[in-house]
Amino acid sequence: MAKILIQGGKPLNGSIIVSGAKNAALPIMAATLLSTEPVVLRNVPDLNDVNTMAKVLQALGVNYKKLDHGVYSFNASGAISEEAPYELVKTMRASFFVMGPLLARLKKARVPLPGGCAIGVRPVNIHLKGFEALGARVSIDGGCAVAVADRLVGNKIMLDFPSVGATENLMMAAALAEGQSVIENAAQEPEIIDLANFLNALGAKISGAGSPIIKIDGVEKLKGGEYSIIPDRIEAGTFMVLGAISGGRISVEKCEPEHQHALMNKLKEMGAEIEIDGDKVVVSAVNGLNGVEVKTLPFPGFPTDMQAQLMVAMCVANGSSFITETIFENRFMHVSELARMGANVTTHDRTAVIHGVKSLKGAPVSATDLRAGAAMVLAGLIAEGKTEISQVYHIDRGYEDLTGRLRKLGANIERIEDPETDE
Ligand code: UD1
Repeated sequence: MAKILIQGGKPLNGSIIVSGAKNAALPIMAATLLSTEPVVLRNVPDLNDVNTMAKVLQALGVNYKKLDHGVYSFNASGAISEEAPYELVKTMRASFFVMGPLLARLKKARVPLPGGCAIGVRPVNIHLKGFEALGARVSIDGGCAVAVADRLVGNKIMLDFPSVGATENLMMAAALAEGQSVIENAAQEPEIIDLANFLNALGAKISGAGSPIIKIDGVEKLKGGEYSIIPDRIEAGTFMVLGAISGGRISVEKCEPEHQHALMNKLKEMGAEIEIDGDKVVVSAVNGLNGVEVKTLPFPGFPTDMQAQLMVAMCVANGSSFITETIFENRFMHVSELARMGANVTTHDRTAVIHGVKSLKGAPVSATDLRAGAAMVLAGLIAEGKTEISQVYHIDRGYEDLTGRLRKLGANIERIEDPETDE
């Protein structure tokens, strides 16, 4: 299995270009099932999760082709199967996004339940309750969620929690339902807006995406088209935190600053300097950082997916910081890894208390999940000495060629394939 080796402590400088958003690309790829005409997607990130979704779609009967770097074509005009394969779904929760489109198109879907993961139980009850509201009969059979409908009919769907995945799955299902659906207490993340814009580009009638109330007027069919995915706000945010801790000045390019208010406000509160110039955000912190208090919340609040990375900055800030994680019940796995690097962090239920230390020290650590893995890379880059990160397949799920791009900023970082631990 691959490892990442970092010789830390070098100030980093220069510019880094942000890739397309993984969390927008995955549901939009699933949504190509809704159209019987060809669809071309651009700015798709080159990630393992994207490959997994492409394979899930292929197994369902979609023809896809990689046309160029970041450009894929999808054609779902042939026969489509209602059953998603367990072997693929179990490797990626986001495969569950095919449930809404399958139900809309075939009036039946059978998708393995994705199960929990390192950061929490992550049930799909809100998705299923929404499908029922649209007229589907939902059951669990042999580890799969099964939904069958004679007709899908638009309805009012009140979400118990503004779940990102449920909002997306239900928007896709409702896109081809009869009449109007209204999703209340909808998630407001930028990826929801991107999915709505994509569906509308294909002829759907969706309004209100980005607000808590989304209206979907069902249409009979969607046409084909071309669409470009938004920049990845979590990748951009990870590089912004790096700008604040690396002792240099990093220009994060081709990002969408409008998606970054919660993070940029916290970084400024900590003492970082941030300059915005169009789609470019330049971050540095010449006078060091101070401790702050953060609570993760649904968008536009502070994203849970940036919590681990910001914690690294807090580990070396002056004074104490507090993070309360309200979205996932088990998202502090990186704390014990950071402790191995000399960080002073304790957790009390869903709150982490971080007392800043002068510096972190390199150590062998694990990437316990995707964003925790990104945090380990950040920590390794600012630590004294050598850091060796294992379980990097988690990082590969969400960051395209991370080591190569960081080397261009001056980082002493390399990826090695370790044949001894190969499985
Ligand atoms: C998406 C993102 C993930 C991000 C998360 C929160 C993708 C592919 N992933 O995940 O990176 O961390 O949003 O911003 O876009 N919940 C239920 N029942 C449900 C659905 C969710 O109880 O049916 C709970 C979850 O367990 C979790 C919370 O709601 O505690 C938020 O989950 P949700 O917003 O659905 O996150 P995902 O869509 O899974």
